[in-house]
Formats: sequence, C-alpha cells, structure tokens
Amino acid sequence: MVPIMADLQLTDDVPPVADDGVWLACIECGETFAPFDAIRYTCDDCDGLLEVRYDDLPTFDEFEGSGVWRYNAALPFEEGVTLPEGDTPLHEMPRLKDDIGVDALRVKHEGMNPTGSFKDRGMTVGVRVAQEVGVDRLACASTGNTSAALAAYGARGGMETLVLLPAGKVAAGKIAQASLHRARILEVDGNFDQCLDIVQDLAARGEAYLLNSLNPFRLEGQKTIGLEIMEEFYADNGEYPDRIVLPVGNAGNTAALYKCFRELVKAGAITEDQVPKLTGVQAEGAAPMVEAIENGYEDTRRWEDVETRATAIRIGNPVNAPKALPGIRETGGTAVAVSDEEITAAQRDIAGEGVGVEPASAASIAGLRKLRREGEVDSDESVVCLTTGHLLKDPEAAAEAGNEPEPVANSTEAVLDLIEEPSSVTDTVRRQVSKATDAPLVPALVAGGLGVAYLYRKFLSKK
Ligand code: F0G
Repeated sequence: MVPIMADLQLTDDVPPVADDGVWLACIECGETFAPFDAIRYTCDDCDGLLEVRYDDLPTFDEFEGSGVWRYNAALPFEEGVTLPEGDTPLHEMPRLKDDIGVDALRVKHEGMNPTGSFKDRGMTVGVRVAQEVGVDRLACASTGNTSAALAAYGARGGMETLVLLPAGKVAAGKIAQASLHRARILEVDGNFDQCLDIVQDLAARGEAYLLNSLNPFRLEGQKTIGLEIMEEFYADNGEYPDRIVLPVGNAGNTAALYKCFRELVKAGAITEDQVPKLTGVQAEGAAPMVEAIENGYEDTRRWEDVETRATAIRIGNPVNAPKALPGIRETGGTAVAVSDEEITAAQRDIAGEGVGVEPASAASIAGLRKLRREGEVDSDESVVCLTTGHLLKDPEAAAEAGNEPEPVANSTEAVLDLIEEPSSVTDTVRRQVSKATDAPLVPALVAGGLGVAYLYRKFLSKK
C-alpha cells in the first residue's frame, strides 16, 4: 500500500478562519482559509488542492426536501442558483444484471439533470459561491458538459460565461447548449488539459471565476450523488451498495464521492465497512488514473496525447487525482481501462434496457463487465453504475452505435415487404459481435453467417 500523502482526515478542530462553521483546508499542507473572503482555488502556500470543511456534519435524518438542496445541511448554503437539479433515477437493470452476473445492479442516471449531466449539481453550488464572492464573469475549460451546465446556470444567475473547448472534440449537443444559453465559446486548437491550463491562467489574473472541478465548491454539489445513492439504495434494499463504478475524466466525481463517504463516516451515519468500493473507469486512450493505480503512483503522470470516442473523458491530466486516488485505494476499489468498442457495446446494452446515455457514461458498465469477467468483482456484489450524461448530448455517437434507418418506398406494400424480412440483421449481428468479448465466439460467427446469408438472399432477390 502506498502511503497517502494528501491529508484527507476530517478533524474536530475548527480553525479561527471558519465562517459560520465552514472553512477551506489544503489537503497537502493543512493550511486553512476563510471560505469567502477572497477568491482562491488552491492553497496560497503550497498550491495544493483545497477542500471545504464543516464544524458540523449531518446524518441522514437531517435531510429534507428533494434534489441537491435536500442536502443543504451538508453544503455551505441553504439554497443555490437552481433549475432544479438532482433527484435523478436509480434504475434497475434486470437483464443486464443477469448478463453481467452480479447480485444487484442499479444505474444512477445523471443524464436526467436539467442540462443532461451531473455537472448541474456542482454548478448550483458553484454559481451561488460566485455570487457570494461577487464576480460577474464565469469561466471553464470543458470537454462539453461543464460548459453546457456553466452556461445554463450562469444565465440563470445573470452572469457572463466564457467557455474554452478543444476544437473538434466536443459533441454537438453540448455546444448547442452552451451556445443557446449565451456562453462566449472559444474553440482552442488543443486538448482539454491545455484549455484548462489557459483558464487557470485567466483565473489567476483575475479575468474570470473558474468553475472547473478544481474549484472545491463544485465538488460539494457533486457529493450529493453519493448521498442520493446511499439513501435510495438503502430504502430499496435495506443495505448500502458494495461498489460504485463511475467514469473518470478529471476525477472530480471520484473525489466528491470519497468526500461524501468520509463525511458520512465522521458523522456516524455509516460505518467504515459500509463505504462502497470506489471503482473508476477510463478509456484506454486516456487512462492516467488507471496507470497511477496499477503502478502505485501518488499522483498521475500527464498524458500529452489522448484519444477516445468518449470525448467527455478525453483527459490526460486529472487535476483531482490527489483527492481521488486515495478514495479508490482507501475504499478498496480499483480502476480499469476499457476500449472504445467495449464502451460502444455497453452504450447499446444500457439502451437495450431503455436508458439512453452518452459514450463516457457507458464506460461504467463496460468497466463493470470487464472487472466481473476478470474476477475482480464478485458475483455476490451489489453494484451501482453511474451514467453521467444523456444520450442526446452526443447524437452522432448514438446514431453510429444504433440501428441504421432503412429507406423505403412510399407505400404500405413496400413497408410490409421490408418488415417481413428479419428486421435489423445488421443490428443482431452487431449485438452478437459486441458481446463476443465475453461470449464464446461461435454464436457471434453463427449470427455473422446468418447476416451474410441474409444479405446474399437480398442480393439475389434484387437481381
Ligand atoms: N462523464 C461525463 C459525461 C463527463 O462529462 C465527465 C467530465 C466525466 C464523466 C468525468 O467526470 O471529470 O468528474 O472525472 N466532463 C468534464 C467536462 C471534464 O468538461 O464536461 P470527472
């Protein structure tokens, strides 16, 4: 076990800088700061990551209402700039559960937030803090979802928003959202990590208030994902889930969930052995967290070249790694990389149960399937997979993964002719092939053979 350098212990000592029981603490050197007296994102002394701390941590019976602000006893404000957000479904996935082979499987679909991703939970708190510290221009770097959420919440709060996006690498739905919510959109000839470097520079020069997940207040909102999962899973099952599997990009959510669990343990709401194992999934082409877990690194090493179809997690320098790596290790979780093909197959699998998610979200199911196959996840485990963004965020990826529309002549006869044929042969073949990663090759080949036979018959009938 690697020694944990970051100090993530929650102490009972309330520093004199605390304002109404809230303060900021550096996770590297322990320095504390008043929460709202100045704008800072990292430690003044050592540049370490900051964490929001409270003198009083609530148990479950102190929560009331719904959505993110149900949990205001665990947040720095009573209410925020709201649309409203949170209270997302925890879907059962009966067929997928049997197929993957676990005792229980739920999908927490964060795509059901107002702008279609979990980022709304962070923004409802983050934009409220922006009002508190008195800024008028908000900014972020983004692979897309953060920019959509920032634009919407900024608009709601009456503030100007500036978003820096990696040119050509952001899905259409996300740009459309940022654009219509009146963000100023700058497309940078570079990747997400380079956009974030620039936004951090702008923020350091006082040009804008940074609302990436480096901002510790955003993670406060995102920790409510964990609170909802724990409450709802317990209400349905009488116990907490053994494991939470989530896609990882900048590792903000991983850090936020770990904070949620540390606070619940400190409050006495759960015991340490009730903390779910945090399990991160990255795309093979952008997997610095997996590399760090596998090699026992204290921090990630920046990947300069990243590529994946799951553009939301096309990230090579996860800024929250110092908070997230201990979270994965201390909870007994792990991290795994999946291929783009596995991500696409998982996107289809989830869609087959009626739930539409974008590629990055499907990484959680792809990762679970892989870990189960490798025996890292046991068949008796209860698992919650986080799906972070809605299918419509990336319509192009959905169309590529889904069935091809079939042209047909304008007559009932022609439609009848067509639907008499085995409907979507390409789809059946594709499904079998997508499962070939764990299913024996034979059924896939048989299905493939049937597909070829069908196409040949069609070819003959046309002659
Ligand atoms: N899933 C989706 C759909 C995302 O948009 C992101 C991050 C993640 C997962 C990864 O979450 O960063 O907390 O580990 N998207 C950011 C953005 C980077 O700019 O929208 P994380």
